[in-house]
Amino acid sequence: MTNPIISLKNIDVTFTQKKRTIEAVKNVSIDVNRGDVFGIVGYSGAGKSTLVRAINLLQVPTAGQVVVNGETFFDGQSSKGVQIKPKDLRDRRRKIGMIFQHFNLLNERTVAENVAFALQHSPLSANEKKAKVSELLELVELSDRSEQFPSQLSGGQKQRVAIARALANDPEILISDEATSALDPKTTNQILALLKKLNAEFNLTILLITHEMEAVKEIANKVAVMQNGAVLEQGSTLDIFTKPQAPLTKEFIETATNQDKALAAISATDVVENLPAGQLFARLTYSGNSTNEPLITGLYQNFQVVASILYGNVEILQGTEVGSLLVVLSGTEAGLAAGLDSLTDQGVTVEILKGTKA
Ligand SMILES: Nc1ncnc2c1ncn2[C@@H]1O[C@H](COP(=O)(O)OP(=O)(O)O)[C@@H](O)[C@H]1O
Ligand SMILES: [Mg+2]
Repeated sequence: MTNPIISLKNIDVTFTQKKRTIEAVKNVSIDVNRGDVFGIVGYSGAGKSTLVRAINLLQVPTAGQVVVNGETFFDGQSSKGVQIKPKDLRDRRRKIGMIFQHFNLLNERTVAENVAFALQHSPLSANEKKAKVSELLELVELSDRSEQFPSQLSGGQKQRVAIARALANDPEILISDEATSALDPKTTNQILALLKKLNAEFNLTILLITHEMEAVKEIANKVAVMQNGAVLEQGSTLDIFTKPQAPLTKEFIETATNQDKALAAISATDVVENLPAGQLFARLTYSGNSTNEPLITGLYQNFQVVASILYGNVEILQGTEVGSLLVVLSGTEAGLAAGLDSLTDQGVTVEILKGTKA
């Protein structure tokens, strides 16, 4: 068994204001393995930032356990919750880089100075720091901008400066908290590609906090979905996309794959709107080696069920094809029942969106 690089166990974070208590994080347990790109997705206010701030104790939890790299940072069971000395905590925090939606650059300093700022406590010599800064700027492809100021840069370039700065102390973990949320789709993809490259080349473990499942879909191998402070479900990205359980997870996936629009348009068509009794409007989701043609022909050949495809979509997730089809199924009651069972047996997720299965 591999030891997770980050282990959060039963984390609670409660804020107490005058008369109100806010349970920002409720009993969350997450294990992140070295080399994971772990997505944490949820709408604004779900508790994502509070949860990730608990990792380096920028937010001390109310209860639970925080273990990073095998070292217990916090243990709510112990009388003094924080288990690490302030000086050690400062050292450990340097090994956990963070990037944010609003970049948090120093506007009065050049690009190179912004990156060098992160090295102020580093034991490197002045020359070594200079070399480190150029190496980092090269990595994020900003060597030609080192003497410019943040105001002279685009959003994507600013975020790349922030990434270079976050990597200055060779962290093992990078926490990206909505880092692409202020960027346009093309720039978002460039930043995600850079994160993916850092993950692949340096085995950098990345926590990708986002309200956009598209970002998760692009680069995360695991995902947790948060709502109201709690994790609704978590698992491999492939499993979550092919077998989502919570309505919120389905909603995120539908948006990320543009199925929301297709679903709305198709639900309004006559075939679905006036679905004859005995027919079913369903979504079939499948991954890997099953492809839609044998599934559909199999339904007809074995169960005399006719599937008319109203919409089809294929996504590539972690190198695996994930297909989804919106279909109207018609056949005898027995045929439909047996046909749906056989799809399930083949690993296809079947959701009846309209009509009742006998
Ligand atoms: N320092 C704080 N004091 C009081 N409430 C807070 C504080 N930080 C966050 N919250 C509340 O906790 C909840 C979760 O916030 P947050 O973790 O920022 O969510 P997210 O990052 O998913 O948008 C929200 O209701 C927010 O208002
Ligand atoms: Mg947040």
